[in-house]
Amino acid sequence: MKKVRVGLIGAGGMANRVHYPSLAEFADVEMAALCDLDEKKLRATADKFHVERAYTDYKKMLAEVDPEAVYILMPPHHLFDLVIECLNQKRHVFIEKPPGVTREQTRNMALAAEKNGCLTMVGFNRRYIPLIREARRRVDECGPMLQCVSTFYKSSLGARPYFGGAIDVLTCDAVHAVDMLRYMGGEPARVASDVRSLHAAYDNSFNALIRFESGCAGVLLTNWVVGRRVHTFEMHAKGISAFIDGDDKAIIHQSGQEDPLVLDTRAVAGSSDSRTYYGFAGENRHFIDCIQEGHQPETCFADAVKTMELVERIYRSQI
Ligand SMILES: NC(=O)c1ccc[n+]([C@@H]2O[C@H](COP(=O)([O-])OP(=O)(O)OC[C@H]3O[C@@H](n4cnc5c(N)ncnc54)[C@H](O)[C@@H]3O)[C@@H](O)[C@H]2O)c1
Repeated sequence: MKKVRVGLIGAGGMANRVHYPSLAEFADVEMAALCDLDEKKLRATADKFHVERAYTDYKKMLAEVDPEAVYILMPPHHLFDLVIECLNQKRHVFIEKPPGVTREQTRNMALAAEKNGCLTMVGFNRRYIPLIREARRRVDECGPMLQCVSTFYKSSLGARPYFGGAIDVLTCDAVHAVDMLRYMGGEPARVASDVRSLHAAYDNSFNALIRFESGCAGVLLTNWVVGRRVHTFEMHAKGISAFIDGDDKAIIHQSGQEDPLVLDTRAVAGSSDSRTYYGFAGENRHFIDCIQEGHQPETCFADAVKTMELVERIYRSQI
């Protein structure tokens, strides 16, 4: 089996918690080198994952190590230049969400990827949650999606804006819920929204009604100053309704059946480790598989542009 030679930029939280542990498990990945500006994090992460070559200058790392693919895991407002440089060097690129700070950044990254023939992926991990995939499969069996709901609530009263205000809540984090609406409903035809700043100096509640091209109706409900983190999805088709919490379970009702089917997220994933049942291991496997097989990941930059366009439309379409 061919090994994918991967360069790693960023030794922060997501890198250490979910991405590098996943890569370390894959027999067909060589974690060839690591780069971070912070030498303490660099050393600790390199030691933890037995990465021999460590750098504080990513361009030096690219020149000396020549990785086929690069993980770039850092705050969104620092991403753009590094992503463009890697793509122009014809390296495949994985980034976390959000894919840059604006749709324009995402679009230009997607164009650079296309021009250079690179495979790219954004870590929209919710799409790779095994429970969500399984619920979707069962709903799809009953026909086209008629209605879908994506919610994301957090209890962040008094919190500072993301990265000191470098990016808004919808683009930075509630974008997970927006991306999932596209996953469930397809491409949006019409959008009406309600965007608000509640008990904060910045927008922190984003609600939308979307009519998709398929005819499916979608609803987005997000609010960052309520009781607790709740992040759920609903998928409805003819005679079937799935109510899904990726952290917990899916309850699936089918007409004619008295009792719902209840699927446990850990049982479906075959693991009680959130790295697996919450889609992180799966998204990394998907990226490596796509490189091995030579096709674009489902959540490639070109696809992410469409999610960022929907984010923009939610701002533009306020009632
Ligand atoms: N999918 C999810 O559920 C999820 C959850 C949390 C965070 N995220 C996203 O993950 C991304 C990374 O977040 P994090 O919490 O891991 O960040 P972090 O701040 O913990 O780590 C980022 C690292 O990048 C390094 N860095 C910055 N610029 C660099 C450069 N030019 N060269 C080398 N290293 C550089 C920093 O020193 C730091 O160690 C963010 O975009 C965030 O939105 C996603």
